[in-house]
Amino acid sequence: MAADFDKSCHALQKPKVETYCGLVFGTFAENMPTLSDYFGPEMCGNIQRLLGRDMELLERFQHGLDGNWKLYMENVRDTYHASLLHSFMTTFRLGRLSMKGAVEVSKGGLHHLTYSIRSQDNDQGQYDAKEIRASKDDYTLNSPELLESWPEFECGTTLAIQSLFPNFSIQQLSNVITLRLIVPKGPHKSELTWWVLGAREDTPEQRAIRIRQSNLVGPGGYIAMEDGAVVGWVRRGVTGADDKKSVLAMGGRDVERISESRCNELAVRGFWQGWHGLMES
Ligand SMILES: [Fe+2]
Repeated sequence: MAADFDKSCHALQKPKVETYCGLVFGTFAENMPTLSDYFGPEMCGNIQRLLGRDMELLERFQHGLDGNWKLYMENVRDTYHASLLHSFMTTFRLGRLSMKGAVEVSKGGLHHLTYSIRSQDNDQGQYDAKEIRASKDDYTLNSPELLESWPEFECGTTLAIQSLFPNFSIQQLSNVITLRLIVPKGPHKSELTWWVLGAREDTPEQRAIRIRQSNLVGPGGYIAMEDGAVVGWVRRGVTGADDKKSVLAMGGRDVERISESRCNELAVRGFWQGWHGLMES
């Protein structure tokens, strides 16, 4: 290069990086708020609840999805599909719309949290490995210890799905704590990475429970593979319908901040409101 060439004037653009509860976030956007301001207090509360302690990586999965990354984020935010799509969850009482819970959307709609609490009285909160049984059918598991769990959190939350705009999600399914990052690989392809976490303070028995339960998630999981599959089905279903529009009116039309019902499209509206706000700016 010429003698007066100044590398500092021609370097790659550096992202702004900040860490929150051990998670590293980066952005090329200028004038970004701090992560705690960006997430807001409700979202920060759940991140701290799950990850505000020494965590360890237990497993990592990665797989492709046959659709646009935004279809997957719609799925993550669709708070009523579990009882329709994930029959395992309802059959074995991991998640039902009748359970106490709520949907919270951050200001402006960018992030969401949905959670539920499995009641000890009504929903057989602490599974007895020998007595696990579906409510109306006689389905049982040959290995019922798959769903053995312990009450990990004082708040009683047994299921929590959180999305942090644009493409990150934190999930608690019983004692399985996972992170999910979806990366676009083109208009109709994306790649999903899962990290399954444990706490350093886990006893050997708790660690074994987490690892066993993690068969519920990932590309071969009893529940989570269904979410990946429907992304491709939706993509194929909407092919040729470029002039059509989605209707997201369940539970109203606005982006309320919180709903005690999880049978609505509050969080999906929030995603698209946030998305359009950014795209138009
Ligand atoms: Fe799902």
